[in-house]
Amino acid sequence: MLAPNHRATIDATLPVVAANATAITGCFYGRMLTAHPELRNLFNQGNQASGEQKQALAGAVYAYAQHCDAPGTIEPLLNRIAHKHASLGISPDMYTIVGRHLMAAIGEVLGDAVTAEIAEAWDTVYWRFAGELIAREAVLYKDAGITPASFLREYEVIERVAEGDVAVSLRLLPTDDKPAPAFKPGQYVSVQVDLPEIGLRQLRQYSLSDAADGKTLRITVKQEAGDDARPDGLVSMHLAQHAEVGSRWLVSNPFGDLALDLAADTPVVMISAGVGVTPMVAMRQHLRRLQPQRQGVFVHVAAHGGRHILKRELAPAANIAELIVYDDARDEDRGDHHGRFDLAEHAAAIVQSDADYYLCGPLAFMIAQRDALLGLGVAAERVHFEVFGPDLLTATL
Ligand SMILES: Cc1cc2nc3c(=O)[nH]c(=O)nc-3n(C[C@H](O)[C@H](O)[C@H](O)COP(=O)(O)OP(=O)(O)OC[C@H]3O[C@@H](n4cnc5c(N)ncnc54)[C@H](O)[C@@H]3O)c2cc1C
Ligand code: HEM
Repeated sequence: MLAPNHRATIDATLPVVAANATAITGCFYGRMLTAHPELRNLFNQGNQASGEQKQALAGAVYAYAQHCDAPGTIEPLLNRIAHKHASLGISPDMYTIVGRHLMAAIGEVLGDAVTAEIAEAWDTVYWRFAGELIAREAVLYKDAGITPASFLREYEVIERVAEGDVAVSLRLLPTDDKPAPAFKPGQYVSVQVDLPEIGLRQLRQYSLSDAADGKTLRITVKQEAGDDARPDGLVSMHLAQHAEVGSRWLVSNPFGDLALDLAADTPVVMISAGVGVTPMVAMRQHLRRLQPQRQGVFVHVAAHGGRHILKRELAPAANIAELIVYDDARDEDRGDHHGRFDLAEHAAAIVQSDADYYLCGPLAFMIAQRDALLGLGVAAERVHFEVFGPDLLTATL
């Protein structure tokens, strides 16, 4: 529990901190990355440009300050961040750097309004948050048998398959002749690439797109090609151009909290759109090969057949019902449903008693499906989702 004086100060100052939250986190990143330019390798430069990273941090700090005395409420947020941090090799000493610059940014943005008492209360909240994350991350590293200093391992591409003209699947084999790590379907790895043209290394997360086989990992990367308004995506385009068979890459251990509960036998409903199909294919393959008695429903929305990533993986399985939706279908497409996807229209096929629901796709798609499921009486704790970017959702739920 926060001490009563700290709780009172936090409650009194939450509105002003919330009103200035993205200014504070923006100022924080500017200060920290100027003082520690080496950390630019760690932070996603695209998310810096879009502002999503500062929104995610501001949302998390606000949610934690509000709910830190209600552990159940804050648990999903802590897990989500800890898994992401572990995939990036974040170490406890880095929290001192972040804390110093975050507190300095609060002082810089709010000026004289920050009394010693207010600074002390927010410093306490920061270190409680940090302590909870550090503890969770320590367990994740220990369970994986790694340390933050050894979080990357070298893999070689042994198979490369084009997924239409929008994505590429890469099968990766560890180069140290040891087994590939175990993981739960739904988890992701971070891949690090050197980008000498901009003088940076960058890490990105990719969901594992096949069930664990103990030997290899597979990822499926959609190419984020640029246009007049946006530059090419740094890592996806680099991998599309350079990840040929025989090339070697540094890859993290699998992490991620959108993972199938392997001990359960209850139905699994997978609902995805676009490249969000990747964790669902891993879940589907797991159910087909290892839990053939467990029931599943696989719903996927793609623009049309040419954009249907991992389509060849859809071998029929007695235990998995399937609904493929093309919302911008071409004449030759054969999906089960053409046109806009409305979950309520398919409620009888999708909503199962005792099921867990896994969502992955654009944020607006997931919000719409989550709302539809809750509207059909599904309990909120049964609905799980993965955001392919800074999570702007968990902190708001
Ligand atoms: C848990 C998780 C799992 C994921 N799983 C997958 C997966 O299975 N498959 C997959 O393909 N992806 C996945 N992603 C997304 C992936 O991590 C990358 O975000 C994605 O590949 C884009 O990275 P990039 O480096 O190519 O693009 P970035 O360089 O990060 O750019 C991202 C977007 O921002 C735009 N942008 C960048 N800079 C600017 C600027 N200055 N102004 C305007 N726009 C800008 C780019 O044009 C691009 O559209 C996952 C993400 C997460 C968090
Ligand atoms: C209490 C302290 C911290 C909080 C509250 C926090 C919060 C967050 C949040 C909310 C995210 C987004 C998670 C998501 O993807 O949804 C995130 C990602 C990240 N954090 Fe932290 N963090 C903290 C400490 C740190 C530290 C010490 C570092 C290392 C310097 C760090 C580095 C990162 C990086 C690199 C990302 C990924 C950013 C991206 O890819 O866009 N964080 N953090």
